[in-house]
Amino acid sequence: MANNHRNPAERGVTIWFTGLSGAGKSTIADKVEAYLRAAGRKVEVLDGDVVRTNLSKGLGFSKEDRDTNIRRIGFVGKLLTRNGVAVLVAAISPYRDVRDEVRRDIGDFVEVYVHCPLDELVRRDAKGLYAKALRGEIQNFTGVSDPYEEPLHPEVVVHTDRETAEESVAKVIAKLEELGYVAPKRVAAAARR
Ligand code: ADX
Repeated sequence: MANNHRNPAERGVTIWFTGLSGAGKSTIADKVEAYLRAAGRKVEVLDGDVVRTNLSKGLGFSKEDRDTNIRRIGFVGKLLTRNGVAVLVAAISPYRDVRDEVRRDIGDFVEVYVHCPLDELVRRDAKGLYAKALRGEIQNFTGVSDPYEEPLHPEVVVHTDRETAEESVAKVIAKLEELGYVAPKRVAAAARR
């Protein structure tokens, strides 16, 4: 098996950011990506918005289509993870059963719940989608007219309404170090000497 390395720098892992649209999944994933790349890791990002323009082009937002989207992302994540890559997934992934399915399938899986209260998301509304959803112009919009099932046992919870992005990133990195997917910074620096 390719992924049985003891050296944290060679252990693949999928870091799965779940949460409502606009909560900050991509922002935090991109910053964790930068950290891991600077630490010498092989990294790939699978972002829902990007995946839906290629791998999942044509899929909509029914439960069936969302589940298909998540299974595709999980499939690619598994291939990369077993080859030693640190994979960052940023997708709403609102359904617990499919998240847990990809967790079981991938094995090396760290779930990060990116939490932000709905009223704050409506206030931010960077893409203008909440206003449209509240006016009924977008159907099945997660958090407004479609369900979001919170993770029951995420490895990390970040609160983007009351933490800086840097604080959220630090929580994720600390968990990756604790689980042995990233060498603690001092150890990594010593190993390079
Ligand atoms: S998921 O549910 O299948 O995981 P994904 O993360 O790929 O969703 O895509 C979510 C993005 O699609 C949102 O950030 C938003 O920009 C856009 N979007 C368009 N319609 C919807 C909708 N009905 N519900 C949620 N997001 C939507």
